Amino acid sequence: MKIGILTSGGDCPGLNAVIRGAVLKGIKVHDQEFVGFRDGWRGVVEGDVIELPRHAVRGISKQGGTILGTSRTNPFEGNGGAEAIAANLERLGIDAIIAIGGEGTLAAAKRLTDLGLKIVGVPKTVDNDLDATDYTFGFDTAVQIATEAIDRLRTTGESHSRCMIAEVMGRHVGWIALHAGMASGAHAILMPEQRTSIEQITEWVSMANSRGRAPLVVVAEGFVPSHLEQAHSERGLDTFGRPRLGGIAEQLAPEIEARTGIETRATILGHIQRGGVPSSFDRVLATRLGMAAVDSVVDGLWGTMVALEGTEIVHVGFEAALGNLKRVPQHRYDEAAILFG
Ligand code: F6P
Repeated sequence: MKIGILTSGGDCPGLNAVIRGAVLKGIKVHDQEFVGFRDGWRGVVEGDVIELPRHAVRGISKQGGTILGTSRTNPFEGNGGAEAIAANLERLGIDAIIAIGGEGTLAAAKRLTDLGLKIVGVPKTVDNDLDATDYTFGFDTAVQIATEAIDRLRTTGESHSRCMIAEVMGRHVGWIALHAGMASGAHAILMPEQRTSIEQITEWVSMANSRGRAPLVVVAEGFVPSHLEQAHSERGLDTFGRPRLGGIAEQLAPEIEARTGIETRATILGHIQRGGVPSSFDRVLATRLGMAAVDSVVDGLWGTMVALEGTEIVHVGFEAALGNLKRVPQHRYDEAAILFG
């Protein structure tokens, strides 16, 4: 059996570990063959593949990014669509696809599976916003990078007695903000799940300042202050029609400075959170997910993805992951909020 692997959507530390896990187990246990589609769905639509023999995955689990390349290509646009893709797969002798991706990728995979294609999924996103899996690989690494960066912001903030605002990724959920904010001892964590007012934010900042601390605010890119209607977005839409977020920290900084009189600086951590080597947790999780994905192919579990439940890898339908975003629950926010101010 010949399997085509693709990595699609924003890249994420651990993608190469999934590829390695799948290829090694597939070759050693199931006698499968592998090719990689280049640049996500673009490679599927255009039939652009590279061979993935065992030596191609040697030592790659600690490598950031993806050896296959990725893109936000929508497989239903341009020359795509289920029929064209099925014809490509037949021409290339590919029996099944392992699609490694986030919400956009898995939604496209579901649509293609409903139209008869043989696809299994591996959930991926630094945002940790996919339902039906306890954690996505990439999240742990992003939190570590963000925490280290925020620790650094704290020392420069303390030297100048400034308020420092760190903006982290996460799209419409606050998981990176919650974990990196708690880990770094932030005086306020702002996330999309909580409509916090500017008055409340400045109160927390002033409280920290009055104790002689340099206030530290961690804000998720998708945070919507209570006086605004929607998340700050000034860079248009991505190919799946979703707003490109980013920049809320720069909106908040002058507002906080004007209201508190405390000099305030904003830092947007951006793509640094997705780059570089994956953490050991993410390497292990990603490797296990890749190995489980080739089992899904052997069992013909089309339309399912592998997922983490507790410490076990399980198989769940795409629809379970796509129904709802996994948001930070109220009790997790309340727990963190005890430490604000
Ligand atoms: O979904 C992962 C993510 O990094 C989000 O946190 C962020 O909003 C988005 O992707 C950025 O996308 P791009 O890499 O296309 O700018």
